[in-house]
Amino acid sequence: MPEADLRVRLAPSLLSADFGALGDAVRAAEAGGADALHLDVMDGHFVPNLSFGPALVSAVRARTRLPLDVHLMIEEPLRYVEAFRTAGGDTLVFHVEARSDPEATIREIHRVGAAAGVAIRPATPFSAIETLADRVEQILVMSVEPGFSGQKFRPEVLPKVEAARRRLRALGSRAEVSIDGGITSETIVPSAAAGASFFVCGNSVFNDVPVAENLRRLREAAVRGARDAVR
Ligand code: DX5
Ligand code: ZN
Repeated sequence: MPEADLRVRLAPSLLSADFGALGDAVRAAEAGGADALHLDVMDGHFVPNLSFGPALVSAVRARTRLPLDVHLMIEEPLRYVEAFRTAGGDTLVFHVEARSDPEATIREIHRVGAAAGVAIRPATPFSAIETLADRVEQILVMSVEPGFSGQKFRPEVLPKVEAARRRLRALGSRAEVSIDGGITSETIVPSAAAGASFFVCGNSVFNDVPVAENLRRLREAAVRGARDAVR
C-alpha cells in the first residue's frame, strides 16, 4: 500500500477542553504530538448551541504553531470567511447544508489564502458534495449530529468516508477525508480503514488521562486501521 494511504493526522477539538485553561490545553496538544487543532464555531442557528468566534481563534493562534482547522457550524459561512482567516484559521470548513452558496464559499476561502473544507451532516448523502470534491482540500464526514461533543459515533456514515476516498483517488487529489464526532481508540480503527486520514477527537483527547498518552493510543489505533484496510 502506498505510504500516502497511511497518513494519520490527529486534530484535538478544543470544545472538549477546559475553557478556563485553554492555553494549557493548546500547549498539551502541541507537546503531545497533535497535527492540528480543531475549533468548533457554532452560531445557535445552524446548530442548537453557541461556542465562540474569531476572537478565540486569534487567541489560540497566538499560542501555537499548529495548523488551525476551523469548523464553521454557522448559517452564513461566506460572511465570516475573511474574519476567520484574519484570526488565523488555516483550513476553513463549512457545511454544504448551510445557506451560503458552496461554490462561492470555496472561492472566497481560497481568495483569502486558506484551505477549504466541505462538511456533511450524518443525514446528508455524499452525492450532495460530489461535484465539489475537485475544489476542496478537505471533505469532512460528520459521525455525530453537529452541535455537541461527547456523543456516540454513528458507524452508518462510514460508507460516505469510503465514497469520499474513492472519489478523491479517482481525481488524483491529495485532499484529506476527515471524520468528526465520537472518535475513540475503538471507532478510529474502522474510520481509518474506510479511508479517513484526518481525525477530530474531543472527549477522547481531553479527559483524565494525559493528552500525550491519549494521542499516542489514537495514533497507534488509526495506523492499525489504515494498514488493515483492503483498498
Ligand atoms: C461536534 C463537533 C466536534 C466535537 C467532537 O459538533 O463538530 O468537533 O467537538 O467531540 P467528540 O470527539 O467528543 O465527539
Ligand atoms: Zn467539529
